Amino acid sequence: MRTPIVAGNWKLNGSRQSARDLAAGVATGAPKSGVEVVVCPVSLHIPEVAAAVEGSVVALGGQNACENESGAFTAEVSSSMLAEFGCRYVIIGHSERRSLYGESDADCAARGKAVIDAGLTPMFCIGETLEQRESEETIAVLHRQLNALVEAAGDDVFGKCVIAYEPVWAIGTGKTASPGQAQAVHEAIRQYVAGLDGTAASSVRIIYGGSVKPDNAAELFAQPDIDGGLIGGAALKAEDFLAICNAAAEK
Ligand code: PGA
Repeated sequence: MRTPIVAGNWKLNGSRQSARDLAAGVATGAPKSGVEVVVCPVSLHIPEVAAAVEGSVVALGGQNACENESGAFTAEVSSSMLAEFGCRYVIIGHSERRSLYGESDADCAARGKAVIDAGLTPMFCIGETLEQRESEETIAVLHRQLNALVEAAGDDVFGKCVIAYEPVWAIGTGKTASPGQAQAVHEAIRQYVAGLDGTAASSVRIIYGGSVKPDNAAELFAQPDIDGGLIGGAALKAEDFLAICNAAAEK
């Protein structure tokens, strides 16, 4: 069986002190089994957060990583640098990176490959815009995003990553995909993986992101192909994030 995973994407928020406090709160209350809990702070806060979660079940993740290991790439952070500070996961291809910072499918795929090459696990984000959903392009868009990853990292990539389905129209908007809508897409993603790698299709965790809150998490996680969540706004309050982690642990 797949162990659910719930990751908090803290985005560009917090101070050293608030990051430490939030991490300590999560570390103290995180369920000891049944779910893998990950927090992804701003890179600068990683050392503080690493110290706060040390000895707990909480794992650390980065919010992005460069496709290159080192060199003249101003402002970037590499996967091996994140690994050195204890990160095990890296969010790649978040829609904010794609839409606000112009990361293309190929860029995201190259970043995903670099994460895997450094021995970490990408949480590879895919998702359609409202316009794409309304013109029934959802599956085509997701396939295009996943095809790029397969092209960069090989047919066996889904044995080495987590897929995060994040409909762009649901991120930070308070509009969640209904459990049925999300399940239908997750099932289609798993079928896509099955076409390449039968073993990975049953083991790969496909998590949902987009306005997951304590009051809708259990219903989403009850769906057979939803293996946890990538949480934005609700990850900034330990109490809310822990409620979501508990909902996943009870799956
Ligand atoms: P949200 O963000 O939970 O605030 O919608 C999710 C995400 O961006 O990963």
